Amino acid sequence: MKTSPLALPTLYVGLMSGTSLDGIDAALVEITPHTPPTLIGTTAVAMPDALHGQLLHLCHSSSVTFAELAAAEDAFCRLQARAVNTLLAEHGVAHHQIAAIGSHGQTIEHAPEGHQGGPRYTWQLDNPSLLAELTGCAVVADFRRRDLAAGGQAAPLAPAFHQALFGARAGEQLVLNLGGFANLTWLSSQPGQAVVGFDTGPANVLLDAWFGQHHVGRFDQQGAWAASGCVDTALLERLLQEPFFQQPPPRSTGRELFHLDWLQRHLTGHEAPCDIQATLAELTVASIAQGIAQLPLGDQKANLLVCGGGAHNDHLMERLAAHLPHMALVSPATLGWPEDWIEAGAFAWLAHQRLHGLPGNLPSVTGASGPRVLGGIYAA
Ligand SMILES: Nc1ncnc2c1ncn2[C@@H]1O[C@H](COP(=O)(O)OP(=O)(O)OP(=O)(O)O)[C@@H](O)[C@H]1O
Ligand SMILES: [Mg+2]
Repeated sequence: MKTSPLALPTLYVGLMSGTSLDGIDAALVEITPHTPPTLIGTTAVAMPDALHGQLLHLCHSSSVTFAELAAAEDAFCRLQARAVNTLLAEHGVAHHQIAAIGSHGQTIEHAPEGHQGGPRYTWQLDNPSLLAELTGCAVVADFRRRDLAAGGQAAPLAPAFHQALFGARAGEQLVLNLGGFANLTWLSSQPGQAVVGFDTGPANVLLDAWFGQHHVGRFDQQGAWAASGCVDTALLERLLQEPFFQQPPPRSTGRELFHLDWLQRHLTGHEAPCDIQATLAELTVASIAQGIAQLPLGDQKANLLVCGGGAHNDHLMERLAAHLPHMALVSPATLGWPEDWIEAGAFAWLAHQRLHGLPGNLPSVTGASGPRVLGGIYAA
């Protein structure tokens, strides 16, 4: 007798905690065949100061103990579980209605080219076993390392999801994510043209770090402090000399390269702090514009869908519009996906891909030797 396979639920939870270390974003997403994923609900849990400090220490210290790693991982995992359980309670969804949680984990180091001749690696703190216990849901995790093992950069992964969300729209579409770092996706209107995607450089990570040196608070609200300064063009030129900005794709980066010591090395000591903030904002925008200039876009006006927390930074958005007069800046909220939830949505979609045995990477983006099914499954 033939038995029909049990249909999987269509609801997924995506969890993202990016390089900004601002908090955990949880997105409840419905994924059914033949239609783009639908955002059903969201919850954000801010990163407590203690965990923020622990994670910064792991990212930037050369001496870390296993006990410190375990403590940060445990606290991070419990915060993720709180985000999931809050999200489900707020939307009246039971745990058994969730096909899987897609957990990105917390990147503490990303070295896709290896470190000083050593093996290539990307390191995300995560405990999917504990997350499954604390939520009662299946968890899919460890998305990046299979792409890395196949020779890819393991990043960015979001472009495949951008294609699933926006690939059917008419005309040239660019998606720009302004997280701790900025990544760009180009979805060509030409049939058969592979998706292009890469990191352009820092977005908020240096802005947040420099702001934190001079003010109380985690970030420059609306970019007001940057807007009060003047761009130091000599400093900007020096910063743009960093070889990463000239590298062709595939390319990805992280806090290992762009951090406060990197900035300090380029300062003369005579710059006003607000001028440095203005220059860092200009660095973000200029490196994005350089990245877009590398694309064979042609003359037609393209849509630039801007997502990530940097979309709330008015100064950054004004400077972006000034640098890109040939682009129409569009909020993805008009397409049902508010800017803050696309990255978390991507990990819900990646969990769906894993459960259905479908690839999650785009070799044209990461440089992997082929499409791969990403992540491991931890049963409910
Ligand atoms: N109102 C605002 N004004 C200025 N900047 C803001 C505002 N809201 C958010 N941001 C910036 O956005 C950052 C958080 O963005 P986001 O969560 O997209 O980054 P992330 O966690 O690094 O994510 P990812 O790595 O997934 O892209 C904050 O650290 C801050 O710099
Ligand atoms: Mg964030």
